[in-house]
Amino acid sequence: MTDSFATRAIHHGYDPMQNEGALTPPLHLTSTFAFDTAEHGGQMFAGERPGHVYSRISNPTTDLLERRIAVLEGGEAGLALSSGMGAITSTMWTLLAPGDEVILDKTLYGCTFSFMQHGLAKFGITVTHIDLTDPANLEAAIGPRTRVVYFETPANPNMRLVDIAATAEIAHAAGAVVVVDNTYATPYLTRPIEHGADIVVHSATKYLGGHGDVVAGLLVGSAEMVEQIRLYGMKDMTGAVMAPFNAMMILRGLKTLELRMDRVCASAHTIARMLDSTPGVASVHYPALPGFAQYELAQRQMAQAGGMIAFELEGGLDAGRAMMDRLHLITRAVSLGDAETLIQHPASMTHSTYTPQERAEHGIAEGLVRLSVGLEGVEDLLADLRQALRPAPHRAVA
Ligand SMILES: Cc1ncc(COP(=O)(O)O)c(C=O)c1O
Repeated sequence: MTDSFATRAIHHGYDPMQNEGALTPPLHLTSTFAFDTAEHGGQMFAGERPGHVYSRISNPTTDLLERRIAVLEGGEAGLALSSGMGAITSTMWTLLAPGDEVILDKTLYGCTFSFMQHGLAKFGITVTHIDLTDPANLEAAIGPRTRVVYFETPANPNMRLVDIAATAEIAHAAGAVVVVDNTYATPYLTRPIEHGADIVVHSATKYLGGHGDVVAGLLVGSAEMVEQIRLYGMKDMTGAVMAPFNAMMILRGLKTLELRMDRVCASAHTIARMLDSTPGVASVHYPALPGFAQYELAQRQMAQAGGMIAFELEGGLDAGRAMMDRLHLITRAVSLGDAETLIQHPASMTHSTYTPQERAEHGIAEGLVRLSVGLEGVEDLLADLRQALRPAPHRAVA
């Protein structure tokens, strides 16, 4: 069999002839698994026999998804969880202990920020935010207590990139583990493990599912680390287990990931260029624009620039909100990576978990608007944005 991304996303790990010829993998809706004898059960618990015991630990449907995401990310093993936050929290509770330090980039998705800042910090873990867009800052900040370096690239919502290879080199020299949230890029555009990351986490709710109908999380890493997160962070601490039905939905989404990403990358590039040349648009953050602050890094690290755009209008917050309210086709909603194009205002929605002062410190402008470009016809999206950006002048009725 060929080894292309799309072929692996559709076929890896599944043979219909082992499953009554069923083209699509069966859904194993079972909480528990029978043992032949009591001795068999004991051997399963002792880890002396392979197989499944209980669906909070593993299940054949989620197991297929775990193997598939591992091969797409280029890691040894994968783990399926109930949400992106389930993947992030299960990882952190496994890796960190009181007295340890976690170093984070300045910009993070709002709930990740509040988990780290207000959750981990309560349990004696030092939480340090630095600007990881310059690896020299990590070199200066990292110390003997630093156990984890964590970042998103591109970051939600302002599109900042982090150089994975340079960051991993510094982190590894100090004995720290590198965890990358790859939700925005997906393994089709960036495979952080190939650049030196240790663990990749995903909100599979987004592009991997791709249809806005399931909340799910995934992570990939070495077999040893993933097993620790499965048996400790997920099984005992968070219980954030993915339901087998949701695993089926994500397996279905993965089959079209490449097609969907090619489409949103092309449409987002067209839209970003239009925004960039529209009077009244103060700034556009999109990695394929030559004026993007980290354009050179984007060229090196991303196969394409993705489907997410952040932009600001000259009139700031009020202008951004008024523009959003004039849209007809584009949907005002949080989340991203769906077939529908979605627009939201991070300061009052996804990043309202930061205080205004924290947003200012962490590079999230109050007027920033976030656009998740979907699969509709790009001409329709351009037309909707154009009419919202340049409203028809008000005519007084005589
Ligand atoms: C970059 C990023 N990471 C993690 C999450 C959390 O994922 P979930 O909503 O699936 O828990 C989100 C959600 O928006 C996100 O955008």
